[in-house]
Amino acid sequence: MKQDSAAQAGQDLRRYGMKASDSATAKVTMLHSAILNVMIKAAHRAGRTLKRDLGEVEHLQVSLKGPRNFVTAADRRAEETVREELAKARPDYGFLGEEGGAHAGADKTHRFIVDPLDGTTNFLHGIPHFAVSIGLERAGAIVAGVVYNPANDELFVAERGKGAFLNDRRIRVAARQKLAEAVVACGLPHYGRGSDLAVARNEIAAAQQHFAGLRRYGAATLDLAWVACGRLDAYWERDLSPWDLAAGSLLVREAGGFISDIDGKSDIFAKGEVVAGNDTMHRELLRLLQEAGKKTETAVGAR
Ligand code: IPD
Ligand code: CA
Ligand code: CA
Repeated sequence: MKQDSAAQAGQDLRRYGMKASDSATAKVTMLHSAILNVMIKAAHRAGRTLKRDLGEVEHLQVSLKGPRNFVTAADRRAEETVREELAKARPDYGFLGEEGGAHAGADKTHRFIVDPLDGTTNFLHGIPHFAVSIGLERAGAIVAGVVYNPANDELFVAERGKGAFLNDRRIRVAARQKLAEAVVACGLPHYGRGSDLAVARNEIAAAQQHFAGLRRYGAATLDLAWVACGRLDAYWERDLSPWDLAAGSLLVREAGGFISDIDGKSDIFAKGEVVAGNDTMHRELLRLLQEAGKKTETAVGAR
């Protein structure tokens, strides 16, 4: 590497708090745009506040946003931390956060979509499966995404056209083609949260008949990240918000996966529905869900 670019690399490494020896990581971080590295820094900072709060979870102030829909001081603290960090670098960008709502920016093209703590119920139970999720929307399309689980220090990132990474290792969706070998995750609506229990029961019954395993992990952003890295073969859920979907949907796409709403269309944000997987799994899961939907309609119609 020529002298000046070596000096430049050194400066960049220091800017991101890294040592010169992290060559592989250096190469990958250099791949990331400046704005993605800012989003990573914001996720790491919020991750530190969450890890601290996790240790104090029994003392955390908790309130209800609706039936079984908890929000804690940790959610709010993490959101403030993310917003502060992003505003330092991009003060003109808009911001949509789960806890603080929407804040317009002078720059109408760019908006951050943030879930400061996805998996709040897990967090409250000390279950180390939760994440900070930050998506960057440009002119209505998600162009960058970060999902960070501070409990196991797993950082999932993607930029449009640049692929998806887990801790700087390129990730791809699983190649499995056989449903009988597939492990699939889903949301599970329960009292007061989620729309139609009858539809869910039929969807789950259909999935149980076809897949090797069904999982309910309790953090939509990590469900999408795990599809992107091939741990899960597919995932579906309803009643989700833009902050549950923004970063994770780009991870799946940049990892070679397919993602849509339950009608197979791209309205995942408008409908709050998601079906994700590789080509075969996405197609087959869609078919099963649509059949289950018809079955429910017929049963309701017969009453
Ligand atoms: C929730 C989680 C959960 C999903 C819910 C989401 P939150 O997010 O992602 O897995 O089933 O629909 O609201 O409230 O913990 O940020
Ligand atoms: Ca969420
Ligand atoms: Ca949340």
